[in-house]
Amino acid sequence: MKIFLDSAELAEIRRAADAGLIDGITTNPSLLAKAAGSGGDPREILAEIARTVPGPISAEVVALDAQEMLRSGRELAKIADNIVIKVPLTEDGLVACRKFRAEDIRVNVTLCFSATQALLAAKAGASFISPFVGRLDDVATDGMELIGQIVQIYENYDFATEVLVASVRHPVHVVQAAMMGADAATIPPKVLWQLLKHPLTDKGIEGFLADWAKLPQERRGL
Ligand code: E4P
Repeated sequence: MKIFLDSAELAEIRRAADAGLIDGITTNPSLLAKAAGSGGDPREILAEIARTVPGPISAEVVALDAQEMLRSGRELAKIADNIVIKVPLTEDGLVACRKFRAEDIRVNVTLCFSATQALLAAKAGASFISPFVGRLDDVATDGMELIGQIVQIYENYDFATEVLVASVRHPVHVVQAAMMGADAATIPPKVLWQLLKHPLTDKGIEGFLADWAKLPQERRGL
């Protein structure tokens, strides 16, 4: 399963990329606005992210009608070859998705909350579908159940659209996504580092180092 970082913060992105842990990045208007703060240029931030991580970098249009999505998406796509345009799962979003596909621009259809929406996005030629599992859990609906449905539907009809599990809140979401055969999960930095840590690993290292230190200094070099 591919792991994308759900962030627009360059320091976090560089750390995860340097550790070789990520295959791509997803941003959204909230994340990009936060990273740009009071003086930053969102386009420059996206360009730097695209230089730092060679995989797909999702950049979202901030528009409601298809024509404006197309205009803005084409501009975003010029930033770098690895930019993927994110459009919302609306009628206009799917119209834009079809046109982008005809222009060979990859699309991530976002804000997906149902299997029927995911089916329509695949038929519109989306490269990625982003079902938001955490936000479904928030309204007492099992987000991961939706992932199982979408994976099954896409398999039934051989859709090339990749299932990108989004709105991930904890490591169990990631384990479930991988077990269900999702193509990718986009993970906030805090959860990414939680995937790596285990208290027994730390305790094990501590024990090995303490035992090794009991050897006389001159025989410790391996
Ligand atoms: C995905 O592309 C979104 O940026 C993200 O996963 C949304 O997560 P949230 O529900 O934690 O905001």
